Amino acid sequence: MGGPLERPRRLRRTPALRRLVAETSLEARQLVLPVFVSEGASEPQPISSMPGVVQHTRSSLVKAAAEAAELGLGGVVLFGVPTHKDATGSGGIDPDGILNVAIADVVAEVGDALPVISDLCLDEFTDHGHCGVLDAEGRVDNDATLEVYAAMGVAQAEAGVTMVGPSGMMDGQVGVVRDALDAAGHSEVGILAYSAKYASAFFGPFREAVASSLVGDRRTYQQDPANGLEGVREALLDVEQGADIVMVKPALGYLDVVRRVRDAVDVPVAAYNVSGEYSMLEAAAAHGWIDREAAILETLTSIRRAGADIVLTYWAAEAARLLQTR
Ligand code: PBG
Repeated sequence: MGGPLERPRRLRRTPALRRLVAETSLEARQLVLPVFVSEGASEPQPISSMPGVVQHTRSSLVKAAAEAAELGLGGVVLFGVPTHKDATGSGGIDPDGILNVAIADVVAEVGDALPVISDLCLDEFTDHGHCGVLDAEGRVDNDATLEVYAAMGVAQAEAGVTMVGPSGMMDGQVGVVRDALDAAGHSEVGILAYSAKYASAFFGPFREAVASSLVGDRRTYQQDPANGLEGVREALLDVEQGADIVMVKPALGYLDVVRRVRDAVDVPVAAYNVSGEYSMLEAAAAHGWIDREAAILETLTSIRRAGADIVLTYWAAEAARLLQTR
């Protein structure tokens, strides 16, 4: 007597059936934890706009990395917060600069058990807060910046990094860094390219996390949120120049770009679930407006479903723990 011909609900009836037919998996190995390390701090410093995230000291960073390895995370990405900044971001190249010493600390602790990735960008190290060096008119000078990136990549490789993450959105950055690494004998060091990186309001809390001194915006080098095809183009250019992994950033407003990039390239695709995306969810959860743990896992699963093989997320360690209990 009638009734629907198709009954998709049949496969949703029990947890075991839902597990059987789940199209997307979320696993600790797919999650990469971004971490901040501060040169000045003697205690970990809370970041007020990112509840639960801290600026680490060198020793608390090493503990966090050991824990990440223990949890089976995919890796860590290191960001340095230097005490001194200058016009050319020289602290990024200095072997004694905070990021380079932190890389060495973490690698000494985890060895090959955990991929250690470094942000390769000048914004944390420049007194003007831009991702590159400026020309006489105060504009970001693409090709002069490439020379600094090359030196910074080599310094990070010498410190023992597994992969560098060029994130400044300068044209040609992946090729120049690849050549410099190879010429310095570091052909084994990989490149996680921030390929489609948008000029996003959702990086706001990150600027507090790295004590950014930026005045103005990054719209002459980061992409216009209106453009999707351009994100695919950027990813293809980076693969051509030697990127081992390409990344889309932010994640949630750009899941269409994640999908298009996933369909266009033949290397792993990462997506960065950025600071503002983290803080939005945390703020809503703090008000009791959403179920925090469920929303975290749903967010990360959705980024995976859109096509990201790898997700950078401030929830990486917590999500790995949640996954162990399900
Ligand atoms: C640049 C960099 C930024 C982020 C990661 N790398 C900031 C920016 O481009 O303004 C943002 C990450 C986040 O918001 O979580 N070094």
